[in-house]
Amino acid sequence: MVKRLKVATIGGGSSYTPELVEGFIKRYDEFPISELWLVDIEAGKEKLEIVGELAKRMVQKAGLSIEIHLTIDRRAALKHADFVTTQFRVGLLEARAKDERIPLKYGVLGQETNGAGGLFKGLRTIPVILEICRDMEELCPQAWLINFTNPAGMVTEAVLRYTNIKKVVGLCNVPIGMEMGIAKLLDVDPSRVRIDFAGLNHMVYGLDVYVDGESVKDQVIEFLTDPNNSSFVKNIQGIGWEPEFIKALNVLPCPYHMYYYKTKEMVGKEMESSKKEGTRAEVVQKLEKELFELYKDENLDIKPPQLEKRGGAYYSDAAVRLITSIYNDKGDIQPVNTMNRGAIASIPYESAVEVSCIITKEGPKPIVVGDLPVPVRGLVQQIKSFERVAAEAAVTGNYNTALLALTINPLTPSDQIAKEIVDEMLEAHHEYLPQFFKEAKV
Ligand code: G6P
Repeated sequence: MVKRLKVATIGGGSSYTPELVEGFIKRYDEFPISELWLVDIEAGKEKLEIVGELAKRMVQKAGLSIEIHLTIDRRAALKHADFVTTQFRVGLLEARAKDERIPLKYGVLGQETNGAGGLFKGLRTIPVILEICRDMEELCPQAWLINFTNPAGMVTEAVLRYTNIKKVVGLCNVPIGMEMGIAKLLDVDPSRVRIDFAGLNHMVYGLDVYVDGESVKDQVIEFLTDPNNSSFVKNIQGIGWEPEFIKALNVLPCPYHMYYYKTKEMVGKEMESSKKEGTRAEVVQKLEKELFELYKDENLDIKPPQLEKRGGAYYSDAAVRLITSIYNDKGDIQPVNTMNRGAIASIPYESAVEVSCIITKEGPKPIVVGDLPVPVRGLVQQIKSFERVAAEAAVTGNYNTALLALTINPLTPSDQIAKEIVDEMLEAHHEYLPQFFKEAKV
């Protein structure tokens, strides 16, 4: 008998689900999935129904016999799953809007995966992912966990450090977005472009870039000096690099580096746009409403192109390409978040890094990078320290540790401002941070 392939997607009611379903349809020949279980929570039931019905129509149009199950029973979905993908958002977009708005009041960047916003998203998310891991150990111990939930690097770090799950891969669409963007700039097919990636999630560098095996790094860096080419994702509007700086850096930054190398300008820009069109979460809330209206249309049976206005473009490509390569033991190269195991010399052995890996059925094997170039090494190490301390705060619910995490983050100007932000954010997110409110203050 042929084994049935079961995938469970936690956060299945997400507006991104049609991306994922499209990915499974496109790669069905290589990964003949039998059951896709879309799981959400009670509060997400309505969205789950809408997006789940669209998923069913997409599968039917493709003429495939993939069963789509919609459920709020996470344990039923996890039972005997072969792959578990996670794409949930604790506190929904309302919580993201707070992560983005509150720090701005203190003149500090508000962003969903960086600085204070990233810390608080991690504090809300990590306890939930650890719970999912405990369920997986019991209900599907053989399964692979493919985590797309942000902050993906910090979440992967927490799973590696605080659970027994070994089969975990953190995934992001930024590397694939960079390869696609560069292919477009060079006017070549994306399959001919390869970047040597190394660093951390949303803190990854392209150490070299090739077309058909020949380095084109200098040419690409020249392209990056044009402000129009400084971001490859829809959620970050690039504001251009100083050409002399980017040439001296001599590696390809990812769009998120703009928050670190252009902090003042980016904070100014965020403040301006938060007053005009709203923060990114507020923009996305409107976009989501439109998307779900479209999804309700019973005649719609494909992924609508409007979804490409979201920052997570190519998510399905990245996710299903990875699953397919693990399943088929392909041995191809893909950038993912995995245990370093010595690949990057300046990062601890057991920490999560985002690095080009060979993908096999035993999982990703990181390609050895050696030491990162001196100009970027320190920042990567500092962010790794931030992620580790933040993960510890999420697990322990210790106030001082949370304050420490925020203060050592390079986007935070002082311990005093960090304290003010932590205090306000803890109150604002009270409901989703029970670990910090275990003992009533006397
Ligand atoms: C990216 C990031 C994702 C993030 C997304 C946000 O490109 O890699 O980690 O979730 O953008 O996009 P959004 O449309 O929600 O702002």
